[in-house]
Amino acid sequence: MNLSVFGLGYVGAVSLACLARDGHRVTGVDIDPNKLAALREGRSPVVEAGLDALIGAGREAGCIEVTDQAGAAVRDSELSFVCVGTPAAANGSQSDAAVRRVCAEIGAAIAAKGAWHGVVVRSTLAPGALEAVVAPALEAASGGRVGRDFALAFQPEFLREGSAVHDYDHPPFTVVGCEDRRLSDRLEALFGHLPGEFIRTDPGTAQLLKYACNAFHALKVTFANEIGRLGQALDADPQRVMALLCRDRSLNISPAYLRPGFAFGGSCLPKDLRALLYLAKTRDVELPMLAGVLESNGRHVEHVFDRILANGRGRVTLIGLSFKEGTDDLRESPLVELAERCIGKGLDLAIYDPQVEWSRLIGANRRYIEAHIPHVARLLTGDLDAAVERADVVVVGRSDPAVTGLLARRLRPEQRLIDLVGLPEALRALPGYGGACW
Ligand SMILES: NC(=O)c1ccc[n+]([C@@H]2O[C@H](COP(=O)([O-])OP(=O)(O)OC[C@H]3O[C@@H](n4cnc5c(N)ncnc54)[C@H](O)[C@@H]3O)[C@@H](O)[C@H]2O)c1
Repeated sequence: MNLSVFGLGYVGAVSLACLARDGHRVTGVDIDPNKLAALREGRSPVVEAGLDALIGAGREAGCIEVTDQAGAAVRDSELSFVCVGTPAAANGSQSDAAVRRVCAEIGAAIAAKGAWHGVVVRSTLAPGALEAVVAPALEAASGGRVGRDFALAFQPEFLREGSAVHDYDHPPFTVVGCEDRRLSDRLEALFGHLPGEFIRTDPGTAQLLKYACNAFHALKVTFANEIGRLGQALDADPQRVMALLCRDRSLNISPAYLRPGFAFGGSCLPKDLRALLYLAKTRDVELPMLAGVLESNGRHVEHVFDRILANGRGRVTLIGLSFKEGTDDLRESPLVELAERCIGKGLDLAIYDPQVEWSRLIGANRRYIEAHIPHVARLLTGDLDAAVERADVVVVGRSDPAVTGLLARRLRPEQRLIDLVGLPEALRALPGYGGACW
């Protein structure tokens, strides 16, 4: 294919070199004359293992051209990759100035070319910027329309400096956020041979995915370091602890606990996290990230409560009360906290939980209810049918088939459904459906 790459920093130079190596004719565009001069001499404009050799070979084979003229680059290519920098501004926001400038240039060049063109953004953008910034800039400059005169995609880049060529050739997956089949097919032709799945998705998902991945990496580094500081203070070996933690592939290094839903709770997680924070305090070890976890968990309960309140002060039915499915343990259940907030605001609340039947409760759980939440227990009903029938808002914290089947049969269009657990597709299609945070 004939391709152009705008912005020849780490991402752009690696793309230019690897696409040329794969047999495509690639024109690189940059405004920095020093980078252009280096590339013309067959050298890499950035320090990156293996890149000099690839660029030298690409130049020799006549597969790499470089220019500062956007017009010629767009005219001579069918796809343009946008790889310009998006540095952080002082307030933490991401600067899209270079992306805007380059889109104005590419847009004007598309108008002059007068033929279909694909624009693929690889720069990291704030989610939503593809629609709010890139598409309007291209449309204004080209006079054309996305989807009709040119196509637009966001393809997040996952390479790491220092191992960029290796990472280009071994991506975890290739994700293309694109509504245009013609463009995503071309991208599959370019990248489909790489290891890792080729995934087509919508641009909004692809944009947030890139932020989510980097936030997750940062979170993991900080988690390991906080465990490290605590381990050091306790004379335990955090290297050994984290190595063992990573050997659990079913609960630790796995998709477990990584689905958006409702807050965590129960008799272990909040208690042990608080105890860990207390221990750290007694050793003068600050763990701001782990301390923030409890705060964030509380915010999540508030968020769902705000969603309930947004429907007015009608009748609310809460399905589920124990801290998770398949147990009657109510200690530190976030659903109990949610129920208490509803009661506090004077909402007319009914609660159904097949696991928590007052008459069957014994021992510690019964004592806990009597001592701590008798006002909540009074609202428990065993009649799911009636509880759903009466409700203006049904908050679903359980997904067992008896519950989902009844909801599918009985819910009226005007009733609101707030899903805390990821209900099946049939319920998501209901007019009153809304997720906890989706
Ligand atoms: N560096 C990484 O490891 C990495 C990894 C994944 C994603 N990203 C993202 O990719 C994007 C690029 O990162 P980078 O590290 O390669 O940036 P960089 O700063 O190394 O390079 C950006 C290049 O764009 C050029 N440029 C600016 N305006 C231009 C214009 N109007 N026309 C042509 N060229 C122009 C600059 O001269 C520079 O050479 C950023 O959004 C970054 O967040 C970077």
